[in-house]
Parts: sequence; structure tokens; C-alpha cells
Amino acid sequence: MRSLLTVTVNGRERTDGIPANLLLVDYLREHLGLTGTKIGCDGGECGACTVLIDGAARHSCLTLAAAVEGRSVETIESLAQDGRLAAIQRAFHEKLGAQCGFCTPGFVMAAEGLLRENPDPSDDDIREGLGSNICRCTGYVKIIEAVRDAARELAR
Ligand code: FES
Ligand code: FES
Repeated sequence: MRSLLTVTVNGRERTDGIPANLLLVDYLREHLGLTGTKIGCDGGECGACTVLIDGAARHSCLTLAAAVEGRSVETIESLAQDGRLAAIQRAFHEKLGAQCGFCTPGFVMAAEGLLRENPDPSDDDIREGLGSNICRCTGYVKIIEAVRDAARELAR
């Protein structure tokens, strides 16, 4: 069964016919070509698929596309503006918060959601805010430093 979905993705409202059981991650990647959102585990374990829904970090592999009807979804593709990286992207780059980069879009979106909710997070807040994301190669020290750095830059 198909239904109509109206949703704002990265600031642009759109309406698409979708299967009722389509996952948000598949809608973003396959229907809209927004492949920055990754699929790591496909089961809510790794956070690679993290996007913002109405500004809050959510796993798009656990969310039906139909559940974002009338809402706002932001993906990693929305962060850089006019060729300039967002503060959190710049901080990941400068602090070496990525190695293979597969987990990075999910971490960046989780961190972006955290910083919007809590602009001055402690290290414990950062650990908790990124607790649903897994990285297999960087380790977490550089990632936490990157979030701390972005918070400092945003506060200036
Ligand atoms: S792909 Fe969604 S949590 Fe791993
Ligand atoms: S940078 Fe490779 S999995 Fe995180």
C-alpha cells in the first residue's frame, strides 16, 4: 500500500508517494539521493543513520518515513552553507575526529542535535549525547574533543 508523505527535508517541503512500510533511512537515501546518511547495522545499534527530526537526533533506520509526516528532517547534507562547513563539521576535521568516516555523519548529526539542546555540554553530557553512536576506528577521545571545540566556537 502506498501513501502520500509531505515532509520538509533540509529546509525544502516535498510530497512523495511512498510504501507504507518504507523506513526513513531508505526514503532519504534511495528516494532523495541523500546518501550521506549511512546504514551500519540497520537495527538501531550503531547510530550511523542519525538525522535530526524537528531538531532532535533520531535513528532513521528505526523510523518509518510515514512517521515524519508534517515534520522537519535534517541530514548531514544540510549543514554546510555556501561551501562553508558548519562548526561541528570543521571541528571533526580539525580534531581528527574521523578516520574511515563511515560513522561520521551520524556522529556529526548527533553532536549537532546535542549542541542545539545544550550549547555548553560537559564531557559527560557529550558522552551521553553520543551514547547511541558507535565508531570502530577513531576511538572516542578525538570525537569528544571535536564536540567540545565546536561548542567553544559556537559560543564566541
Ligand atoms: S543503521 Fe541505524 S542505528 Fe545502525
Ligand atoms: S571513523 Fe571509521 S567507524 Fe568511525
